[in-house]
Amino acid sequence: MNLSQRLGKIKDMARLDDKDIEPLSSDMDIKIAEMMSENIIGTIKLPVGIATNFLIDGKDYLIPMSIEEPSVVAAASHAAKLARPGGGFKTSYTPSIMIGQIQLMDIKEPAKSMKAILSKTAEIKKHANHQDSVMVKLGGGLIDVEVRDIPSSRGALVIVHLIVDVKDAMGANCVNSMCEGVAPFLEKLTGGRSVLKIISNLSDRRLVKAEATWKKELIGEDVIEGILDAYEFAKVDPYRCATNNKGVMNGIDAVAIATGNDFRALEAGAHAYAARDGYKPLATYKKNRDGDITGSIEMPISVGIVGGATKTNPVAKTSLKIMGIESAHELASVMASVGLANNFAALRAMVSEGIQKGHMRLHAKNIAMSAGASENEASDVAKKMVEKGDISVSRAKEILENIRKNKSFNKVR
Ligand code: MEV
Repeated sequence: MNLSQRLGKIKDMARLDDKDIEPLSSDMDIKIAEMMSENIIGTIKLPVGIATNFLIDGKDYLIPMSIEEPSVVAAASHAAKLARPGGGFKTSYTPSIMIGQIQLMDIKEPAKSMKAILSKTAEIKKHANHQDSVMVKLGGGLIDVEVRDIPSSRGALVIVHLIVDVKDAMGANCVNSMCEGVAPFLEKLTGGRSVLKIISNLSDRRLVKAEATWKKELIGEDVIEGILDAYEFAKVDPYRCATNNKGVMNGIDAVAIATGNDFRALEAGAHAYAARDGYKPLATYKKNRDGDITGSIEMPISVGIVGGATKTNPVAKTSLKIMGIESAHELASVMASVGLANNFAALRAMVSEGIQKGHMRLHAKNIAMSAGASENEASDVAKKMVEKGDISVSRAKEILENIRKNKSFNKVR
C-alpha cells in the first residue's frame, strides 16, 4: 500500500476520524512543544510505522512504533506473523506498583528510627496520599512503607521506600510529590536529614510477562537450534547480552515513543532488572515437548496512558486509539510482546539469512539519499542497488550519476 492507502486502512480499522489522523502528517504545533520542554526552537520528526499481525491475549493489534532505524517495524510484524499459529502472545502483569525513595542520613540510632518509621505507616500514608488526591480517588495511592539500612562511606543510609499504586499513570510525578511531601515528617520523626526524595526506575514490582511459541514447521529445526545457541551466548557474555537486550528495547522504546512515554525510564528499569543477578537476557527461550520454541520475557514496564506527554502529544493520543488501549497494563503487555517479537526476529534473522540482508534492503533509500539522491531519485537508486546486491554509498553515487547522465541525454535528444 502507498502512504495514503495505509492511512485510510488504519482510519477504517481503528475507527479514527480526521482529527485523529491529522497530527500524524502535520508538524507538531509549536505551542504544544513549548508546553513540553524549554528553550524550544523547533521539533524533530521521527517516522511512525504500524506493526501488523500481533495477536495478544486473543486480541488483534495494529501497533504504532516510532523509530529511526529501518527494519525494526518489519521484523516485529514478521515475528508476530510467525507466532500466530502458536496462539500469538499471552501476557500477565502485576499491579502498577512504583517505589519512591527517601534517603535519610545523620540518624543517630538507625535501628530505632527504622522501627519508629514503620510504626507510623498510617501517618505517612496520610501525608503521602494528601499529595495526590486524584490518584487516591482512582483507587491508587500509598499502600505500604518499607525501610532499609545501607552502610556507605559517608555513614549509614536509612532508605525509606514508599510503595505506591499508580494505576494508569507512569507515576513519576505522583511518587516524587509523595516523597517530597513525606520527607519533612520523617526528618522530624528520626532527627535525620533527608537528601534525595525520588522515584526508583528499577520498578521491579511493576512487572509484565509475555510469552509466545514459534512452531518448528514454520521456522525450521535448524533455526530453533541456532536461536538456542544465540540465547546461550547472551546468557554467558555481557558484551553479547547488551546487544541482545538492545534488540528487545528497539521494540519497546518504539512503542513508548509513539505513545509519548518516557523511554529513558524504561531503559533504566529494563537494564537494572536484567542486571539484578548478573547481567542477563531479558527474554528466555526453550524448546517445548513438540520441538517448537517458546520465548518468554519478564521485565518492568512503567508506562502510563494518563498524564504527561501521553495527553499533550496529539500523536500519542492517536497511537493509543489505534491500539484501542484501555489501561496501562494493556499497553505494557503490548510493549512486552513487541520487545519479545523484536528479540526473536533479530535472533532468527542472525542465525539464518543474517541481519544485514533485510536491514540493508530497507536502509537502501537512506543510503541513496546520503549519496546525494533527491527524494524522487532515491527509490530508483535503492531499487538498482538491491538488484545488484551491493548497497553502499559508493554504489549509490555510481547509480545516481548514471541516472542523471541518462536523464540529461534523453533531454538533449
Ligand atoms: C539492532 O538494532 C539490534 C540487533 O543488534 C539485536 C541483536 O543483535 O540481537 C540486531
